[in-house]
Amino acid sequence: MKAYQISVTAIMTAFLRAYHSTNEDPVIFHDALAYALIPEERRHQIEQGLKSALQAHDGDAGASLSSLLQTMGLPNVVSRARYTEERLEIEIQNGVKQYVILGAGLDTFAFRHQHLLKEGKLEVFEVDHPATQAFKRERLTDLGWDLPAGLHFVSTDFRQERVAEALARTPYNPRTKSLFSLLGVTMYLSPYEVYETFHSISQMAPAGSSVIFDYHTEADANLREIRRELQKMGESMQTTFDPALLNAELRRLGFDLVEDLSPAVIQERYFQDRAPVYHANENVHLAWAVIR
Ligand SMILES: C[S@@+](CC[C@H](N)C(=O)[O-])C[C@H]1O[C@@H](n2cnc3c(N)ncnc32)[C@H](O)[C@@H]1O
Repeated sequence: MKAYQISVTAIMTAFLRAYHSTNEDPVIFHDALAYALIPEERRHQIEQGLKSALQAHDGDAGASLSSLLQTMGLPNVVSRARYTEERLEIEIQNGVKQYVILGAGLDTFAFRHQHLLKEGKLEVFEVDHPATQAFKRERLTDLGWDLPAGLHFVSTDFRQERVAEALARTPYNPRTKSLFSLLGVTMYLSPYEVYETFHSISQMAPAGSSVIFDYHTEADANLREIRRELQKMGESMQTTFDPALLNAELRRLGFDLVEDLSPAVIQERYFQDRAPVYHANENVHLAWAVIR
C-alpha cells in the first residue's frame, strides 16, 4: 500500500460482511453496523461493479452473485471474523483484557460490544495504516457515533514501524494478557514483515497472549486471478506460507501454533450443511498462535 492510499480491500471486506449479514441465511457472522461505515458513493461503486461483472458473465454456466462473492473471498471474510470473535469470547473468560486489532480496516467490534468497553472489561486498540484509519475516523465523525471509552486508535505502517513502538503511543499495557488479530493482512506484507510483526508481539505481550490470523497457501487455482484483481486495486498480494515452515518459524519466535485450520476443517466447522451456496476458500488457513 502507498502511504496516502486508503485500503480498498478494507472497504470491500466490510461490504462482504454487511452484505452477508443483511441478505443471507444462515448468517455465519453478524455485522449489522458494517454498511454504515461505508460511504454511500463507495457502496454504490461496489454494487455497480458487481452488477457489471455479472452482466459480463451473463450466459456463463455457474455465473451468479454468490459465485462472484465466493471468488471475492466472502467465506474467508465471514469465517475469519467469526473464528476470531468466538476465540475472543473464550479468552475474555480466561483473563484477556486487551484486544488489539492489527489492520483493523472498518472493523465494528468496539461498536457492537460497547458494553464490554464501558464496563471496563476490555480495552480495544485499532491499529491501521494512517490513510485507512483517517478515512474510518472521518466516517465515524460524519456518522456522529460516540467513541466508546476504552477504544484507542493508533496509525502506523507495519513496513516502517514495529507494532510495539506504535502501541507505546497508547495506553496499551505490555503486562496485561491480550489477544491480537491480524485478519486479511499477512498476504499484503513480505514474509519478513509478517515475522517481524509476530516477533514484536512476542516481545510486548505476556505468556498466554495470542494472535489470530489468516494466511494463504499456494494451493489455489483461483490465486492468479485474485492476485491480478488485487494488483488493480493497488494492494498486491505478496505472501503465501507453507504451513510446516510457518509453524517452525513461529516456534522459533516463541509461539505455539495451537490451531491451524485447513480449508477442509473450516468447511466442516462453518459451512457444512449451513451455507450450501458457499464453501471455505481453498487457499486460506485460519490460525491461532499462543505465546509460550
Ligand atoms: C483486507 S483489509 C482487512 C481489514 C479487516 N482486518 C478485515 O478483516 O476486514 C487489510 C487491512 O490491512 C491494513 N494494512 C495493509 N498493509 C498495511 C501496512 N503496511 N501497515 C498497516 N496496515 C496495513 C489496511 O489498511 C487494511 O485495513
